[in-house]
Amino acid sequence: MKLILLGAPGAGKGSQATKISKEYGIAHISTGDALRANIKEGTELGKFAKSYIDKGQLVPDEVVVGIVADRIGKEDCRNGFLLDGFPRTVAQAEALEKLTDIDVVINIDVDFDVITGRISGRRMCECGESYHISTYKSDVCAKCGKKLYQRADDNEETVKNRLDVYARQTAPLIDFYATRNKLVTVDGNKSIDEVFEDVKKVLGGNR
Ligand code: AP5
Repeated sequence: MKLILLGAPGAGKGSQATKISKEYGIAHISTGDALRANIKEGTELGKFAKSYIDKGQLVPDEVVVGIVADRIGKEDCRNGFLLDGFPRTVAQAEALEKLTDIDVVINIDVDFDVITGRISGRRMCECGESYHISTYKSDVCAKCGKKLYQRADDNEETVKNRLDVYARQTAPLIDFYATRNKLVTVDGNKSIDEVFEDVKKVLGGNR
C-alpha cells in the first residue's frame, strides 16, 4: 500500500502516520522529520533547509523530491509506505507521479482555529513522540524519559506563515488528487483515536 497523508500544519498527519505505519506495517516517511534530522546533525542540507523552515516557507521542490526519491527506494519501503508532509506543491506531486503510483490520498480536514491551538500546545521528544499540553502534563517523554521541547517553527508568527503557505501552495493538491480519483477526506476535528478509526475504514484490509 502506498499512501499520502495530506493536511494543513497541525492537522494530525504525524499522529495518524505513527498509528497507520504500525497497524499496516508500512514505512513512515516524513519530509519534515528528515529535514529536522539534517538540521540536528548540522549537514549542509540541514543548514540550507533551516533558513526556509524557520520562516515557515517551503524548502525548494528539488531538495525534497530528492529526499523522497532516495527514501522510497530503500528496502523497508518494499511493503509500501506512507508519505507525511509530501507532496506539498503541484510540482512535487507531478515529480512523485514519475517515481511511483500512489493508491490513496487521505486528506485530514481540520478547522483553522483548531489547528492554531494544536500547534501552540504541541511538545516534542527527540525520539519522535509528540504530545499536547492539554492532555499530557509532564515535561518528560512517557516513552523514553527525555525532556520535551517545543519545535522552533511552532511560534505564532511562523505558524501564520505556514498556514498561509499551505493555503496557497498545498491546498491545490486536494483538487489535483480528487480529479485523479485518489482522494478521501476524513474529519480531523475528532479525537486522534476517532480519526484513526475513520482512516482504518478507508484503508480496510489493504496491506
Ligand atoms: P512538517 O514537519 O511536515 O510540519 P507540518 O506539515 O507543518 O505539520 P506538523 O508536523 O506541524 O503537524 P501534523 O499535521 O503532523 O500534526 P501532529 O500530528 O504533529 O514540516 C515542517 C517544515 O518543513 C515545513 O514548514 C517546510 O518548511 C518543511 N517541509 C516539510 N516537508 C516539505 C515539503 N514536502 N516541501 C517543502 N518543504 C517541506 O499534531 C499536532 C498537535 O496536535 C500534536 O500536539 C498532537 O498531539 C495534536 N493532535 C493531533 N491530532 C489530534 C486530534 N485529532 N485531536 C487532538 N489533538 C491532536
